[in-house]
Amino acid sequence: MPHPLTASRSARISGHVRVPGDKSISHRALILAALATGRTRITGLLEAEDVAATARAIEALGAAVRPANGAVEVLGQGVGGLQAPRAPLDFGNSGTSSRLLLGVVAGHDMRAEFTGDASLKRRPMGRVLAPLTTMGLQVEAQGEGATLPLAVRGTGDLLPIVYELPVPSAQVKSSILLAGLHAPGRTTVIEPLPTRDHTERMLRFFGAELKSEDQGEGRAITVCGDAELAGGSFAVPGDPSSAAFIIAAGLICPGSEIVVEGVLMNPTRTGFIETLREMGAQIEVLDLRDEGGEAVGDIRVKAGALRGVRVPPERAPSMIDEYPVLAVVAAFAEGETRMEGLAELKVKESDRLAATAAGLVACGVEARIQGDDLSVQGRGEVKGGGQVATHMDHRIAMAFLTLGLGSAKPVTVDDVSMIATSFPGFVPLMTKLGAEFA
Ligand code: S3P
Repeated sequence: MPHPLTASRSARISGHVRVPGDKSISHRALILAALATGRTRITGLLEAEDVAATARAIEALGAAVRPANGAVEVLGQGVGGLQAPRAPLDFGNSGTSSRLLLGVVAGHDMRAEFTGDASLKRRPMGRVLAPLTTMGLQVEAQGEGATLPLAVRGTGDLLPIVYELPVPSAQVKSSILLAGLHAPGRTTVIEPLPTRDHTERMLRFFGAELKSEDQGEGRAITVCGDAELAGGSFAVPGDPSSAAFIIAAGLICPGSEIVVEGVLMNPTRTGFIETLREMGAQIEVLDLRDEGGEAVGDIRVKAGALRGVRVPPERAPSMIDEYPVLAVVAAFAEGETRMEGLAELKVKESDRLAATAAGLVACGVEARIQGDDLSVQGRGEVKGGGQVATHMDHRIAMAFLTLGLGSAKPVTVDDVSMIATSFPGFVPLMTKLGAEFA
């Protein structure tokens, strides 16, 4: 049963908040902890459906996961030490869990079935299957066009490879690096544009040997195989992709002033903040600090006038999940915002390029897709009043609820249940800050 929700114009969104743990880092913390020897204690782990899917999968593969005094403890099995699952692994909505764990299963002599929800079954898996099959993974069954459900067989004799990413994808890079942990020798991934580097940082943290070098054609990341990882204590910082909705609400609801505390400020994730600054947003990063090898800061935003900007294609990987909400902010700016090179948005939890443009148009905003670019004509204010289709996409749901907080007329999104994928507390948290939902 879908759960629709309506957001209404809300003046003065204000207060100090924390956002839940970063989703990308949470997945990786669980997976690397499962591959480490001994216990890993993770604090700040995101409690949301996608991360729960990863936790269930590593348990099905033989790692023990249990709550421990407000933290989560994982008892790892060592690189190559996981067991064949007894039932299909169900990844729900989570592309990251399924793609990263394909890399892990590749390095184990086991058969495993991968499945997921209707959205995940539409997403391309060929991008990870191509390099992983070169390394030795066998695909026994797959959905049409290399999609889930998949049945795969891994091997204890994986081959190391050198692989240049055809698309800038941290998921593909990470899947290959995780497989590379199990192969003898060195596995290298070359990325033409920098993508989020959490896997690299965390592999080092867990004790793997890893080299990352800038070359003429991009960055080459090499992991040494037959690795040994050791468990330890790990803290997950706040998710900048979740913070983005709160920041956006703070910018577009008149009189607002918000501080979002403890947000990850890794430079491979800060494209949204950089773009907002170019739009003239009053946004400050306070107390920039290092927490467990990642930059973290408190972000203060104040509502104010914004102008349209051009967002260059090479910035896309550093804000790939923030485009729907950036497009919403752009609708409240003065002038055109042109977001270029968004082909990857078409293969996210939904076709986000189409869903974002359609949602804006439904709310009276002039928005156009031209090739892989999205153009939004900002007029300083937004009519609203639309019914927005979320297409099983948590970020489309949150982006358009945010739009409804600033628009003249209320905005209804058709289903908010998918918000649990990444940010289950979104509506109550926004309500506490002064947002109005009905
Ligand atoms: C993620 C990488 C991104 C992002 C996704 C999480 C990750 O996908 O959209 O939400 O954790 O590696 P791609 O790397 O496929 O672009």
